[in-house]
Amino acid sequence: MAESNSADLMDKIVSLCKRRGFIFQSSEIYGGINGFWDYGPLGVELRKNIRDCWWNDMVRRRDDVVGLESSIIMHPKVWEASGHVGGFTDPMVDCKVSKQRFRADQIFFSTVIVDGKNVGYVTVLESERIAEELQEKAETFKRKKAIQGKLEPIQPRDFTEAKAEEIPLIPSPATGEPGSLTPPRAFNMMFETYVGALRDESAVAYLRPETAQGMFVDFKAVLDTGRVKIPFGIAQVGKSFRNEITPRNFIFRSREFEQMEMEYFIADDDDWAKWHRYWIDWCREWLISVGIFAESLSEYDHPKEKLAFYSKGTTDLMFKYPFGVQELWGIAARGDYDLTQHAKASGQPMEYFDDVKKKRYVPHVIEPAVGVDRILLAILCSAYVEDQAPDEKGKMETRTVLKLHPRIAPIKVAVFPLLKNKPELVKKAQEVRDLLRPYMTVFYDEASAIGRRYRRQDEVGTPFGVTIDFDTLGEKGPELADTVTLRERDTMKQERVKISDLLGILLPRVR
Ligand code: GAP
Repeated sequence: MAESNSADLMDKIVSLCKRRGFIFQSSEIYGGINGFWDYGPLGVELRKNIRDCWWNDMVRRRDDVVGLESSIIMHPKVWEASGHVGGFTDPMVDCKVSKQRFRADQIFFSTVIVDGKNVGYVTVLESERIAEELQEKAETFKRKKAIQGKLEPIQPRDFTEAKAEEIPLIPSPATGEPGSLTPPRAFNMMFETYVGALRDESAVAYLRPETAQGMFVDFKAVLDTGRVKIPFGIAQVGKSFRNEITPRNFIFRSREFEQMEMEYFIADDDDWAKWHRYWIDWCREWLISVGIFAESLSEYDHPKEKLAFYSKGTTDLMFKYPFGVQELWGIAARGDYDLTQHAKASGQPMEYFDDVKKKRYVPHVIEPAVGVDRILLAILCSAYVEDQAPDEKGKMETRTVLKLHPRIAPIKVAVFPLLKNKPELVKKAQEVRDLLRPYMTVFYDEASAIGRRYRRQDEVGTPFGVTIDFDTLGEKGPELADTVTLRERDTMKQERVKISDLLGILLPRVR
């Protein structure tokens, strides 16, 4: 990760994404719409590469995982059976004065205790430094109110833990004053719509809040047609929608996002912990294979008392984002809950006949579930670097470079004629572009000085640059004819290679 401080780094990444056509605010010309993002020309390629890498590694290169693409809008009973209609909620709190809305579990407060006496409350929003910020606020509170005595260490709690009598005394994070926060109430995050011409209760349907239910609902169909045998998985990539109360941190928490989920079905008496561990390790290795540093990853085991009653265990792979260590990939052992729920609600059995064990059972499931956008952000955070490089005149300047793994870089190679007003150079460069283009994404650029062109590609993470110069034309001797300069982004090293060798050199390095 870059050496800049965290807030700074996030600002730089957001700005680069906008400036270079990775990610834009959705509907920006109308003032934007909160929680929705558009992927521009380079963002679309980066996202597609992440998705393709996952699909290749998760589905195509395995014998035991098959793919699925279920519809986004499904029968509303799916979401009743899954528990989403009744329980897919976040605790919401309103500030009656500022009209701002918060997630109760993202407001942290503490009593201010001086010489054993409760003298008031302080509040902060979730951050990397909750305890430190609350302590600082408690000290300021005591000083401003000129309270004498010894301040005791603060004890952070989140707003869902506030007692009814405490709520009027806890300051709003928006105004800093107590008395304006409402008690938390459950807010269902499902986006509703209507199917068909009628707009009444009978026509209500939902945009899916996760892709997972498609795999459970189609479990029998895949089983009956796919020649799959337990243990096996069904994987899906697709859009999910959640009416998040507080979308934030750029694309980290959005209202429309893309998920890559896989349901891995195992025998009811199989060692679920072994498979759980297997998939945690697989996910971790996969993240490293697309350029995320192992040091930025950690594991968080959900405490037993906070798990849903059916869950055997959930571990999140956490990433150190600039705004804090946050969930990137959840790996859940969900028992047979989902299949059993759908069997009960639909009346269709969801059993598997195991011809090795000679018995019939409802399979259990391990579910690795991740958001493409969260991976993309983690990759950008890992790849963003500012280093020093010589400019055209040899003077050192700051270079911004995205050290993207070549597997996922939006552009694999940039092709440059040294000068744009020399038709022989342009012609040769276009021949090289056309030679490479069937095999990889190529960007052809003839505008401005060569150094500036290299910098532009460094900033968008293009791992290789190929320059066609007068040597290529054989002007310095026949031995250099039809050779080009191949420049590597990270080291900025340049080597002379034959055009006829170029494809063989580049292909294994970008795949
Ligand atoms: N089927 C299980 C499931 O959906 P989840 O933890 O709610 O579990 C899985 O979501 C993953 O989807 C998360 O780990 C995260 O990577 C991504 N995700 C969830 N909500 C998101 C949001 N609002 N914006 C972006 N990504 C999100």
